[in-house]
Amino acid sequence: MAKIRIVYASVTGNTESIAEMLQEHMSGKGHDVDCANAENVEAKALGTGFDCVLLATSVWGTDTIELPNDFAAYEDAFSEMDLTGKKCAAFASGDSGFELYCAGVDFIEEQYKAVNAEILLDGLRVDGAAPENKDQIIAWADELLSKL
Ligand SMILES: Cc1cc2nc3c(=O)[nH]c(=O)nc-3n(C[C@H](O)[C@H](O)[C@H](O)COP(=O)(O)O)c2cc1C
Repeated sequence: MAKIRIVYASVTGNTESIAEMLQEHMSGKGHDVDCANAENVEAKALGTGFDCVLLATSVWGTDTIELPNDFAAYEDAFSEMDLTGKKCAAFASGDSGFELYCAGVDFIEEQYKAVNAEILLDGLRVDGAAPENKDQIIAWADELLSKL
């Protein structure tokens, strides 16, 4: 059993719905999964006490990446986080009509690399909310669990 932390930022609830689906699925497989909004988790202690960290954020903006306010504390704090060597992955909801589709995944993975976190698998990019993308989300969760 792994201790997994999911932390998300979500404006309209789409990324949140993915986070909750991941939590439910991985908990159902016997893992201890904590799921919280980024606003409620102190950035510096993000990975402390967890085997695996999953970070997620949507993006808003047209030619530049604009992260939700909930994610603000994380934007500049990666260098201070305890993620070096930690098993990590990223996910996001987005809209494939935008050029920077699910760019929150790219942003988070860049930060993981900068602090030498261990990226377990390519980030999950979901077009819209969880219910209509269940198969994709569950397949990603199972691949992730197989790497823990
Ligand atoms: C002004 C605006 C800009 C957006 N920019 C992007 C974008 O660059 N990339 C993307 O994938 N989605 C973009 N979106 C779509 C949202 O990120 C998408 O609806 C997402 O599902 C919202 O997730 P959330 O509810 O978790 O915040 C944009 C939406 C709006 C209204």
